[in-house]
Amino acid sequence: MRCSRAAELRLQSVPSKPIRTNPIKSAIPDAFRSDRPSGQEGNNDAHVERPEFAGPVKYGELRLPSRYLLSPLAGFTTLPFRRIVRNIGGVGLATTDLVNCRALLEKNSRTMQIIETHDEDQPFAVQIFGSDPGHMAEAAQFLETRHVATIDINMGCPVNRIAGAGSGAGMMCSTESTIKLVQRVVEAVRIPVSVKMRLGWDADNLTAPFFAAEFEQVGVCAIAIHGRTREQGFSGSVSRPGIRKVVEAVRKIPVVGNGDVRSVADAAQMIRETGCQAVSIGRAALANPWIFRQLDQWERTGEFEPAGTFEERLELMKTQFRYMQDAHPPHRAVILFRKMAHWYLKGMRIRKKLRGDFQKVKTTQEFDEALEVIRREGPVGGNRTGVLTDCHVPVPGGPVDKW
Ligand SMILES: Cc1cc2nc3c(=O)[nH]c(=O)nc-3n(C[C@H](O)[C@H](O)[C@H](O)COP(=O)(O)O)c2cc1C
Repeated sequence: MRCSRAAELRLQSVPSKPIRTNPIKSAIPDAFRSDRPSGQEGNNDAHVERPEFAGPVKYGELRLPSRYLLSPLAGFTTLPFRRIVRNIGGVGLATTDLVNCRALLEKNSRTMQIIETHDEDQPFAVQIFGSDPGHMAEAAQFLETRHVATIDINMGCPVNRIAGAGSGAGMMCSTESTIKLVQRVVEAVRIPVSVKMRLGWDADNLTAPFFAAEFEQVGVCAIAIHGRTREQGFSGSVSRPGIRKVVEAVRKIPVVGNGDVRSVADAAQMIRETGCQAVSIGRAALANPWIFRQLDQWERTGEFEPAGTFEERLELMKTQFRYMQDAHPPHRAVILFRKMAHWYLKGMRIRKKLRGDFQKVKTTQEFDEALEVIRREGPVGGNRTGVLTDCHVPVPGGPVDKW
């Protein structure tokens, strides 16, 4: 899909705020490069110079406990995982996977499960998507009745099924209807409403600064910005200058910088180079669930403790599995957990045979036994400290139009 010609013309015809069309700076992506030497991710380097921090992050009246937010990763940042990072500490806000506003109104069982939360999971946001302003507003009202702290509108999802239908990143293709939709949601509820978007549809339509300024006018409480275009998908590098333009476009509301932050040093660079008030972290939180606590410690004291050890990681896996059993029947919990375990164990450098064995476990007892074998043998190479260096979340590749 392309932004339609009509939409492009509409974008060009907005008189007071010119759309910037600077090409996205392209550079070798380094944050998730698999050839990054292990042990050099900076998560255990306790001396990272602190930038100047803005005041506390506020979403309307809601003051977030820290400026480090968990970015939604559909299928991964589920309630059990959110409880894990919350218990470790340092998380300012966590957001659910994106949910279809219509499915929410129909109380679809899978959707209702996605918006489940827990006392430990506060404050939390539900992220909604859709292209019908009425449905979006009604879904927001429904969430308000369920005591959700804040609602996030997804304007960044690049997947064709969503963007092609005018939701997600597709909303960046039309200005008037998008601003009206967002305004309608904001006006429908008393709780704060934020928007998460990308820099624009493509390098010729870097519309995020324009939208951010308009959204602030209609009462949006914060903008989260993933520093890539829709066309980039997950390729290339995050453009921090692009995020900076969004920061410069708003007057008061916080901007959350997002993309490729996987260490305290990366977060420092994000804050320093973009001026963003908050930072959200997705994939790196799976590799290092301690990252939020590290960031919070570092902001307060200038120092931070190392990420958890191999043994602590195993304990986290057991706890996450227990949380999964709270939400699902045991057999289902095992199957669901295997997906996470695949990435965790790979990052923990567990021998291939043992990883394969783990994928065959079917019961809680087999789960415990397989983990015990893994604990006894330990990682290949014997290093039981530090972060999961290879914990890459699978992202779609190839032409984004085919996703
Ligand atoms: C598997 C996967 C699922 C994602 N699901 C969502 C989602 O539901 N909503 C959303 O706004 N972004 C979603 N994202 C985008 C992330 O929130 C984030 O913007 C992106 O991964 C860049 O941040 P990171 O480099 O810290 O991971 C997803 C990304 C991945 C890799």
